[in-house]
Amino acid sequence: MLENKTVLLGVTGGIAAYKAVEIASRLRKQGAIVKTIMTASAQELVQPRLFQEITGNPVSTSMWAEIPNLQTKHIALAQEADCLLIAPATANIIGKIASGIADDMLSTTVVALPDTTPRYIAPAMNTQMYKNKVVQENLRRLKDLGWHIITPATGRLACGAEGLGRLPEPVDIVNVLQDMEETREADLQGKKVLVTAGGTREAIDPVRYIGNHSSGKMGYALAKAAQLRGAEVVLVTAPTNLPVPHGVEVVAIETAEELRQAVLKYYPEQDIVVMAAAVADYRVKVQSDKKIKKDAEELQLTLVKNTDILRELGEKKTKQILVGFAAETHNLTAYAKEKLQKKNLDFIVANDVTKPGAGFGSDTNIVQIIRPEAVQNIPKMSKEALADLIFDEIAKI
Ligand code: PMT
Repeated sequence: MLENKTVLLGVTGGIAAYKAVEIASRLRKQGAIVKTIMTASAQELVQPRLFQEITGNPVSTSMWAEIPNLQTKHIALAQEADCLLIAPATANIIGKIASGIADDMLSTTVVALPDTTPRYIAPAMNTQMYKNKVVQENLRRLKDLGWHIITPATGRLACGAEGLGRLPEPVDIVNVLQDMEETREADLQGKKVLVTAGGTREAIDPVRYIGNHSSGKMGYALAKAAQLRGAEVVLVTAPTNLPVPHGVEVVAIETAEELRQAVLKYYPEQDIVVMAAAVADYRVKVQSDKKIKKDAEELQLTLVKNTDILRELGEKKTKQILVGFAAETHNLTAYAKEKLQKKNLDFIVANDVTKPGAGFGSDTNIVQIIRPEAVQNIPKMSKEALADLIFDEIAKI
């Protein structure tokens, strides 16, 4: 929630500085108190007065300009901030922050910011500059220092080229802030969580595959929930149309075997693994390397069984809390209990995928959480709320 939170908005001299006006406006609409600090270069691009009008607050433009009601300006601003957002952030400000340089109002405020104040930075620049090794090293340093880096988008840049480096849309930046600032317990701080999502694809030939109806919504909601609760999250995902949750490491896979390889690679160091992906149980024995022509009236494909990845994880389990899903169309509880036991899980989340509002593609789910000793019926709720509830259950373990 950004209501009544003081957000310091640092605006630096990138062409995208004009988008910061919309960011300020959106933050205001969320109820935030927005205090803007503009670098000298930013003022060459956008008039400070515009931010003053939009935010209803004086804009800080220099270490030496008068700001009403503030004595030691940079210290006072730093101390009253609930969070700091720098958008757009040039290579220059990123370099200054990484090196501890404090030579203007914004960089000095950053140095004066209490360690516990959340800080976000949205780099925006030409692709070559963004990929520059020093810039990347500086961003890594910022990440290590606790900054949330809002990854730039790909698209048309001010220099006319297409590429990585665009400032994400203001609505997306404000959403990141809103999600992160939501009151939450950071009960997964220091924990490593791996989530799988989406439906795997098993190729038949270069144009066809065996797939399923998973949209990835359940898995992505879980990854986002874990990240918001402070965990370091790896999301192993089959193809989906969903945006990548902020701050999550994403590993893209297609087949069950690729999912298996990715999960096994990360498994030893994980504290929690939640398998929400819909994994193909069978793959085509011999894939055709050319498109199969439709001459024959009947076509037979021989399928061979894929490894049961979750069962393998259950066998290899050391310290991990292991949570599976069961997608059933009948005998929900009985089949799910069987999977719970066979796969050596801490609990299983069983959904009857034939129920409206449950299972594949929907924004909601209706599940049973099944442990060896108890079955808990969970009423219909959003996948986001369910994801949080699943982590509440995990936290109890
Ligand atoms: O993605 P959405 O559209 O939001 O839909 C959500 C969902 C319906 C996909 C999700 O809620 C769900 O039920 N996921 C599990 C789907 C599934 O594969 O269920 P299963 O009963 O076939 O498998 C049981 C468990 O074993 C699952 O955790 C699965 O990830 C895992 N498994 C399955 C097969 C296999 N070869 N290896 C596995 O590890």
